[in-house]
Amino acid sequence: MVVARLEGFDALMLRPRDSKSSASAPNILAKELVISQNDPLDAGTDNTVNTVPGSLTDNSTAVDIKFSVPFVHRLRTTRHVAGADFPTLLGVLTPGSVGPAKVLLVAERPVADAAGHVAELARRLGECPDIELVRDVLLVSGGEDVKNDLSCVEEILNQINSYDLDRRSYVIAIGGGAMLDAVGYAAAIAHRGVRLVRLPTTTLAQGDSGVGVKNAINYFGKKNWVGTFSVPWAVINDASLLESLSDRDFCSGFSESVKVTLLKSRDEFDWLCDNADRIRNREMSLATRAIATSCELHLRHITEGGDPFEMLEARPLDFGHWSAHKLEPITDFQVRHGEAVGIGVAIDCFYSHLKLGFPLSDVQRVCDCLSRLGLPLWHQALSPLDRLLAGLEEFRQHLGGRLTITMLRGVGEPVDVHEIDTPTMAKAIEMLHHVGQPLRG
Ligand SMILES: NC(=O)c1ccc[n+]([C@@H]2O[C@H](COP(=O)([O-])OP(=O)(O)OC[C@H]3O[C@@H](n4cnc5c(N)ncnc54)[C@H](O)[C@@H]3O)[C@@H](O)[C@H]2O)c1
Ligand SMILES: [Zn+2]
Repeated sequence: MVVARLEGFDALMLRPRDSKSSASAPNILAKELVISQNDPLDAGTDNTVNTVPGSLTDNSTAVDIKFSVPFVHRLRTTRHVAGADFPTLLGVLTPGSVGPAKVLLVAERPVADAAGHVAELARRLGECPDIELVRDVLLVSGGEDVKNDLSCVEEILNQINSYDLDRRSYVIAIGGGAMLDAVGYAAAIAHRGVRLVRLPTTTLAQGDSGVGVKNAINYFGKKNWVGTFSVPWAVINDASLLESLSDRDFCSGFSESVKVTLLKSRDEFDWLCDNADRIRNREMSLATRAIATSCELHLRHITEGGDPFEMLEARPLDFGHWSAHKLEPITDFQVRHGEAVGIGVAIDCFYSHLKLGFPLSDVQRVCDCLSRLGLPLWHQALSPLDRLLAGLEEFRQHLGGRLTITMLRGVGEPVDVHEIDTPTMAKAIEMLHHVGQPLRG
């Protein structure tokens, strides 16, 4: 539920434009409230803002009010949500005020086919008196294809309409990051937001995108071009849902763990390096710890970083993503998002070394860690460079404003840069190409 609240309204700096208008003004609209339009997050701790000097005429007024919107982010971690931990799911489904909570259960077909979890969840939900499961599980396809056209989004919208779901109803989505993005987008735009409960089924979605506050589909051949910012009602990371994942998809999600630990924590990055082989070999106690750490670092960034909806220039969690987001479409999505991110992180580590002095020994450790996690470090589509570099402008447009790319001075020391030196980037990519050979300083 989203609650908008105008805080401290009386304390706002209301300045009469002149004594005449002030005397005749019956309400706030006749006054000039001074707030910064340019950057709402830079407006200071009070609610005052600056209007552009001279922008008001005698016939116009301005009311610019800074306000905050409190959200609750509900994350649950379970081992077997379709079994002993089922009450955890029930606990996030508040019954409606006029009867049971309406639930549309949507699952990715490969996940439902691979194990009995989805059918069991549907059976148990169907037996709950406080839940109205509106139909059998709706099965949709998974993988990036689901984001490449509108069919999944339209299907979800149709179902929400057909079964009269409202803004207090629930869409429970069980699937990988791509499916969660498409279903989440539909849930976010239906009635301007039906409650979305995500049950991510990949390592990437559990460690990264599941707790994210975004959804999107691809459009114009570009990643995530259509989408919204929207906080999920709840996220349940369940270990048993990862069992049926292929080794390739199991490994690919840990590139986001490498990314976020590089940005936020040397200790956690060291731990990942120390345990990479065992994680690749699916030692679940270690894999779930890596996922939990990644998830927590992402969640903290979102809830404590001060910019959950990315209104500022920088988007640090997208370290390594400018090239990854380009590599995906130019390979016709044959490269997984997680694989592309691993390559993108490695490229930007080399660039950070060449431009910002990020130690070569750490670049080597990053490449080694990614490799031992089972991730590729090279794809032939990285050449020609011009095609890849077009990703920089697409990345800039996606954020708006100046190009801002996060690089690293050291592990845990991100730095924003506003231009990319093309010859140096070419050299960085060339160094990655030769990564199998010993690196020289
Ligand atoms: N919204 C965000 O904040 C955000 C953040 C990061 C990534 N993403 C998006 O997430 C997507 C990548 O997600 P992903 O890495 O989870 O890949 P994915 O969703 O494409 O899934 C990869 C493959 O695994 C299959 N699969 C999923 N779960 C399975 C399971 N339990 N058993 C068997 N097969 C299963 C899928 O069908 C697919 O073939 C990209 O589209 C990326 O842009 C979004
Ligand atoms: Zn990502």
